[in-house]
Amino acid sequence: MKIIAAKDYNDMSRKAANIISAQVILKPDSVLGLATGSTPIGAYKQLIEWYEKGDLDFSQVRTVNPDEYKGLTRDNDQSYYYFMRQNLFNHINIDLANTNIPDGMIEDPQEACKAYDEVIKSLGGIDLQLLGLGNNGHIGFNEPDEIFTQGTNCAVLTESTIQANSRFFATIDEVPKLAYTMGIGQIMSAERVLVVASGRAKAPIIKEIVEGPVTPRVPASILKFHKNAILVADEEALSLL
Ligand code: GLP
Repeated sequence: MKIIAAKDYNDMSRKAANIISAQVILKPDSVLGLATGSTPIGAYKQLIEWYEKGDLDFSQVRTVNPDEYKGLTRDNDQSYYYFMRQNLFNHINIDLANTNIPDGMIEDPQEACKAYDEVIKSLGGIDLQLLGLGNNGHIGFNEPDEIFTQGTNCAVLTESTIQANSRFFATIDEVPKLAYTMGIGQIMSAERVLVVASGRAKAPIIKEIVEGPVTPRVPASILKFHKNAILVADEEALSLL
């Protein structure tokens, strides 16, 4: 895994946006795997700015998001569907028909996972998958486990993830306990993976990922076996290496 050190959050965001931007310029009909969470917001802001300047064109880009909470409607302001519109899609010239996010309102997990596996397959491969990092090393919503997941699955969120994500909800009880997520196998099939991380809170898990063994107990550790994985992290996130 290639590590690119950034000075701070802004620098990390610009570096990540540069890599995404290069991908879109090199291949205008790229399939971009996008991410939610607070970390990628700065990169999205930068991409929007470059789009407004006329430097980027998203008209042919297709996107696929790794995850969505189970049970949240699309108009719920905590759904990832809502997040992607608010933070990126509403501000660029992407065709919304070309954007894909798991449908959190499908009640039956088997049906939801099968449907999303088909969506991913129909895209014919992800060119660049952007990812944030859970404090416990989760990617998408693939939580620490005994095995690496292959396809889309219904994840049971850990207490630590529920706790971490509760900052966005009015009360911790409102945080969904389940989520649909692309599997680790599907993430590993992306041509390139770009992980972004910022702040001291991510430093312990980055140390584990970089210096520890590859294990499903730390899902992101598998990215060390990816042929083209990049970690862009700021000084604080890299401070324990
Ligand atoms: C959520 C998402 C992840 C994301 C993680 C990190 O749990 N399911 O995809 O990477 O949060 O979020 P943040 O960037 O806010 O630390």
